[in-house]
Amino acid sequence: MAKVQRRTILTALFSAFLPAIASSSIVPPDGCPIPNWAVTTFAWYNGSHSLDCIHSDVDRNTQGCLCGSGWCEPNPATCNGSMVNVCYTGMPSYQPWGYGPPQTLDIAFEDGLTCHDEYIGYRVHDIAHGESNCGYADRGMGRIVAFYGTSNEDHSIGHMDYTLGSGHAIQCANGSKITYSGSTDFQLNCVHDEFFNATCTADAFDVPVLGYQWVS
Ligand SMILES: *[C@@H]1O[C@H](CO)[C@@H](O)[C@H](O)[C@H]1NC(C)=O
Ligand SMILES: *[C@@H]1O[C@H](CO)[C@@H](O)[C@H](O)[C@H]1NC(C)=O
Ligand SMILES: *[C@@H]1O[C@H](CO)[C@@H](O)[C@H](O)[C@H]1NC(C)=O
Ligand SMILES: *[C@@H]1O[C@H](CO)[C@@H](O)[C@H](O)[C@H]1NC(C)=O
Repeated sequence: MAKVQRRTILTALFSAFLPAIASSSIVPPDGCPIPNWAVTTFAWYNGSHSLDCIHSDVDRNTQGCLCGSGWCEPNPATCNGSMVNVCYTGMPSYQPWGYGPPQTLDIAFEDGLTCHDEYIGYRVHDIAHGESNCGYADRGMGRIVAFYGTSNEDHSIGHMDYTLGSGHAIQCANGSKITYSGSTDFQLNCVHDEFFNATCTADAFDVPVLGYQWVS
C-alpha cells in the first residue's frame, strides 16, 4: 500500500518535470524479429542566413553574381560572370555571396544507418519538415526517416517518424515477411550564437516500433 502510494507520487513528480516522450515498442507477431531503432547522433545546423529557397520569398527573388566556380559581389555593374537567381539548382555552391553556411542535418543510428541532408537548391529535402535523406537506394526500398522540429527555441520537442519500407521487410519464422513503423517525440536542444545561427542536438534516443504490416 505504502509502496504503491510512493510510486504514484514519484511517477507524478517525474511526469511533471519530464514530459513522457518515450514509449515502448509493440510485441511483434510470434516468430517475427523486431528492429531496434536507436539514434546515437542527431545534429542539425540552421544558420540565420542559410539560403532557404523553400520558405523565403526574399531568397527566391535574390540575384547573385556567378563568376567562374564561385560567387562575386552581386552588383550587375561590376559582375564579371553572370547575374543569376541564387535559388537556381546546379550552382557550384549553395552559399552565395552574403549568405552563411548552408543548413545541414545528420542522423546516425546504432545499426549503421546514416541520414544526411544539406541545402542543394529547391530539390533538397525540407529539413525539419519531414523526410530526410538516408540515401536514394535506401529510399527506393521504402525506408523513410522523417524529422519535424524547430531550431528557434533553446529547448523544444522534436518528432521523428520511422517507416522501414517493404524493401527492408524482415522474415518471420514461418516464412512470411513483415515490415514496421514507429515514431517518437524527443528533447531537442539548440544553441544560438550571437547571429542566431542555431546548432541543435539531441541525446541518444530510441524510436519505438509502434506498428507492423505483412508484406508477403
Ligand atoms: C553565423 O551567421 C553569420 C551571419 O549570418 C554568418 O556570417 C556566419 O558565417 C555564421 N557562422 C557560422 C559558424 O555558421
Ligand atoms: C571577378 O571579379 C572579382 C573581383 O570583383 C575577382 O575576385 C574574381 O576573381 C573575378 N572572377 C573572374 C572569373 O574573373
Ligand atoms: C531556421 O532558421 C531560420 C533563421 O533563423 C528561422 O527563421 C527558421 O524558422 C528556422 N527553421 C526551423 C524549421 O526552425
Ligand atoms: C505466418 O504467421 C502470420 C500470423 O502469425 C500469418 O498472418 C501468415 O499468414 C503466416 N504465414 C505463413 C506462410 O503461414
